[in-house]
Amino acid sequence: MGHIIAVANQKGGVGKTTTAVNLAASLAVMEKSTLLVDLDPQANATSGTGGPPGGDAERNIYRVLMSEVPVADAVLETDLPFLHLLPASGDLTGAEI
Ligand SMILES: Nc1ncnc2c1ncn2[C@@H]1O[C@H](COP(=O)(O)OP(=O)(O)OP(=O)(O)O)[C@@H](O)[C@H]1O
Ligand SMILES: [Mg+2]
Repeated sequence: MGHIIAVANQKGGVGKTTTAVNLAASLAVMEKSTLLVDLDPQANATSGTGGPPGGDAERNIYRVLMSEVPVADAVLETDLPFLHLLPASGDLTGAEI
């Protein structure tokens, strides 16, 4: 049975991204299959785990949310065997609209 952990806080600069990246990496090192989903248009969790910087991933969570790309096609491998990444896109700024 999987678990979903959301790291969210309305306040900026309080360590959300740092927590998400390090928590995901720590779980992966413990050999727990982990998918880090970056839902922030800043895409810092994406670049922080070796993904394309600047939200430039061609297949990304925004295109998944828009039903343009199947989720399985957007997941990237990382340097850690148990850690996968669903990268963000700068386009997420428009996702709420
Ligand atoms: N436990 C910590 N101790 C000291 N500094 C930290 C800690 N966690 C994060 N930081 C630093 O605080 C700054 C903000 O962290 P981070 O980018 O993770 O915050 P955030 O909540 O994701 O910000 P934003 O709202 O911009 O997305 C960074 O420079 C980060 O290195
Ligand atoms: Mg952040």
